[in-house]
Amino acid sequence: MNPSFRPAPAISSLIWMTPAQCQVIEAAGTTAYRLASGPGGWVERLGDDVIISYKQDTARDEMAAGLASWCAKAGWQPVRVFHRHMPIKNADRISPVLHSGDATLPLTTVVTEAGIRYGLDIGASYSHGLFLDQRLNRAKLHSLKPKRVLNTFAYTCSFSVVAALAGAETVSVDLSRKSLDRGRENFKLNRIDESRHSFIADDTMELLAQQAARGERFDAIVLDPPTFSRSKTGRRWQVEDHFEDLLDAALAVAAPKCSILLSTNCTKLDPTALERRARWCAKGKRRSADYVKLGTPVDFPPGHGSSTLWMMLR
Ligand SMILES: C[S@@+](CC[C@H](N)C(=O)[O-])C[C@H]1O[C@@H](n2cnc3c(N)ncnc32)[C@H](O)[C@@H]1O
Repeated sequence: MNPSFRPAPAISSLIWMTPAQCQVIEAAGTTAYRLASGPGGWVERLGDDVIISYKQDTARDEMAAGLASWCAKAGWQPVRVFHRHMPIKNADRISPVLHSGDATLPLTTVVTEAGIRYGLDIGASYSHGLFLDQRLNRAKLHSLKPKRVLNTFAYTCSFSVVAALAGAETVSVDLSRKSLDRGRENFKLNRIDESRHSFIADDTMELLAQQAARGERFDAIVLDPPTFSRSKTGRRWQVEDHFEDLLDAALAVAAPKCSILLSTNCTKLDPTALERRARWCAKGKRRSADYVKLGTPVDFPPGHGSSTLWMMLR
């Protein structure tokens, strides 16, 4: 090698929030947000704690070093830091590992978003309980003040909680009874009386068919399916192939002027592709709509976070 040749120093592709940007988020009553995002992983602040989610050890070490200098700059120290490995196969996921802090503290914690309380389980291997990239969509649903909301693939029911706090009656459906129970806990955390809210452990497609047969109508519907899934009966679901079936079934229970949130993590479906498919379904069902792309919150740089689109029926 030419002795005068020196490789250029590696430039990190991690994007960190500035402490000033974080102060703006916190001033809005939010204690759970991303601190950094990059191709090898991301860093989330969850109240007093931080989770570093990483694909490879080098990315983990880079984020850990970045977090130390970020904290020195911001004058803030997390109570605990967890490291969470994100293997290629979801089935290989394991619980986050405590890297620093008190091991006797509980793994459950409560964070706020716009002052709304959500219970998290830091020890969970899949997700801690709140998808932080949906912050703008939760705020939008709240601002719509819908009367009747159907939250499909509801997980821990965060969309139902904001809708209920805005005065809506809600129906939350998810295959996982355990996730719905966590949703109920979120209702309790926010002192919401459950009497106008139902939590149904079922397959979304089956529930949509039942609701349509009963003539039920909703004025907001959340469709945020996983990329892959299996129905109760073992039928394979793939969002790319079944998106139109899902939206068609949702349109059958959509009241006039219903607002439908379409959301996916499938990289092949960006918001423009979602809009193209939604327009096709609307045409087939003779419904007209306006389409609104909110994008992702400031702590999710381009290429990070779900693709989402609001279909506002006329
Ligand atoms: C991406 S998460 C939804 C996140 C949720 N919208 C939120 O923002 O918190 C996907 C959820 O869909 C549920 N699920 C998967 N297949 C399903 C099906 N066929 N019917 C109903 N729920 C299903 C999973 O149990 C999981 O909770």
